[in-house]
Order: sequence, then structure tokens, then C-alpha cells
Amino acid sequence: MAHKTVLITGGNSGIGFETARQLTARGAAVILACRDETKAQAALASIKNDMPSAEVSLVSLDLGSLDHVRQCAEVVRDRFPRIDVLINNAGVVPTRQQFTQDGFEMQFGVNYLAHVLFTQLLLPSLEAAAPARVVNLSSVAHWLGHINPKTWRGRFPYLVMDAYGQSKLANLMFSNELGRRINPHKVTSNALHPGGVDTGIFRHVPKPLFNTLIKPTLISPKKAAELPVALALDEQYAGVTARYFDHAGPARSRPVARRPVATARLYERSCELLHIDPLPAPEDTG
Ligand SMILES: NC(=O)c1ccc[n+]([C@@H]2O[C@H](COP(=O)([O-])OP(=O)(O)OC[C@H]3O[C@@H](n4cnc5c(N)ncnc54)[C@H](OP(=O)(O)O)[C@@H]3O)[C@@H](O)[C@H]2O)c1
Repeated sequence: MAHKTVLITGGNSGIGFETARQLTARGAAVILACRDETKAQAALASIKNDMPSAEVSLVSLDLGSLDHVRQCAEVVRDRFPRIDVLINNAGVVPTRQQFTQDGFEMQFGVNYLAHVLFTQLLLPSLEAAAPARVVNLSSVAHWLGHINPKTWRGRFPYLVMDAYGQSKLANLMFSNELGRRINPHKVTSNALHPGGVDTGIFRHVPKPLFNTLIKPTLISPKKAAELPVALALDEQYAGVTARYFDHAGPARSRPVARRPVATARLYERSCELLHIDPLPAPEDTG
């Protein structure tokens, strides 16, 4: 395998960390894009401890601030002019409503919108490494979600799983729309459900409920990471784009996530919010 450079958002814990560890074991150079310097250093040290030859770099990324996303993208483009794979992994599930620095509901802002901006700003580095790949962490929870612009700056009442479902549906729709708009010989874009995974994402669930009802159904981060790693590196996914997978293979998604009118509308509205030019739609590219 040729030496690949892979950037992972939120690579310091859970699925992202295990993904980073497995990627380095397969010879990839990994960039962990994390918001917490101490946690990022600890993740790097843990990977290097297991594998001293592992190539791991850190960049500071707080997806809760669009300014910070822009700054990080600039640093990344400068330090890493070629990125073979971008894994959009970071996510939050706050049980009480929170807001990003730009005033977006936190799950919509962090899980989805900031990743659209980050991806778009990193396209030069991805295209320079063509054929490159974008891997988006969606979830089976996307089935719970509805795209509702009225909730993007807050929902009243705040229903955590409705907000999470919307953010994961939006991840999947963006993944599909990016796949539609970019030549797959340059960059492919796929989404995945990693399984129900025993990670810190459940930290807000009351312990008795988590331990008795949820934990027994979960898989390990190590098992979960196999899918993003495969989508990032395996030859079988070369040229495959705008698809959605789980551990069993191609997975069923909400029909709306595959409907070009819907995915294009969400993408273009998102670009307006982000003040960026949308990539040309397939019919515009001739
Ligand atoms: N666990 C599951 O069952 C499951 C199921 C389906 C999909 N997923 C998806 O898998 C992805 C990874 O989740 P996980 O289960 O591994 O959870 P996790 O262990 O809580 O990891 C989430 C990561 O995202 C980072 N993050 C959160 N807010 C951020 C921000 N503002 N800027 C930058 N990074 C930020 C966290 O950093 P900190 O450590 O600093 O908080 C952490 O590294 C998420 O997209 C999630 O929706 C998970």
C-alpha cells in the first residue's frame, strides 16, 4: 500500500481514536484534529507507545467555532498540501441544548455544519492527492431526523435525539451530495453507521440506564473502527461514491437522503450559512 495521509476530526477518543490507531498500524500517516490539546497529546502518546514508528501529527480544531474551523483549514492546507483521506468523525450529543460560537444549535453546528465548511476548505489538499476519499460518520439514528431549518439556531423544546437525528441525516445528505458534485476520480465521499459503540458519546445517559439497557448492546470502538478504516484504505472502495455502509455492507438509508433535490437544497442552504460558494451541481458542470 502506498503511504497515505489521513486526517480525522475528533481523533482523540472513541471511534476516532481507534480508527487512528488502526490506520497507523496499516502504515498511514495520521493527523488528529482535536479541540483539547491535552487529550490530543495523550492520544498521540498512546499510539506512539504501542507503535514508536507511527507517524501522528496534531492540529487544533474546535468545530464549535466557524472561525476556528477556517483557521485550522488554513494551517492544514499549509502543513499538509496533500491529504488522501478526510474522516469527518467528531460529534457531540448534549442532553441540554447548547449553542456554537456562531449561534447554531450545537449538534447541527458541530456534527454537521462545521464539517461541511472544513471539508470544502480542505478540497485543495484532497484534490492534490487524487484519488482521495472523504468518509463521513453518520448513524442509523439518521432515521429519526428531519431537516428543519427552523431548529438550526435552537429548538424549543429541545429533544436531544431529534437534534442528533437531524445532524446525522444532514451528515449523510452532505456525503451523498458531495459524491454527486465531485468527480470520483478526484474525490469520493461515503457515509457509514459504525454500530452502537461503547464510547464517551453516552456520557450524559444516566449510569443505571446505560449499564443495564444500553451497554450490553454495544460493540467496542476497536470493532467499530474497522469500517471507517476500510472505507479509508481498502481497494474495494476505490471509485465508490455517495454510498452508505454499515458493518454488513451497503446499508438502507432514508429515501430523502438519496433524493438529489433534497440533498442539493440542504447543501446550498448550508453554503449560504457558511458564506462559501457551493460546488457546481452535476447539471451545471456539463
Ligand atoms: N458511539 C456510537 O454508538 C455511535 C453510533 C453512531 C454514530 N456515531 C458517530 O461516531 C462519531 C464518533 O463518536 P464516538 O462515539 O467515538 O464519541 P466520542 O468518544 O465522544 O468522540 C467524539 C469526538 O468528537 C470530538 N468533538 C466533540 N466536539 C468537538 C468540537 N467542538 N470540535 C472538535 N472535536 C469535537 C470529541 O472531542 P473531546 O474528547 O474533546 O470531547 C471526541 O474526540 C460521531 O460522529 C457519532 O455521531 C457514534
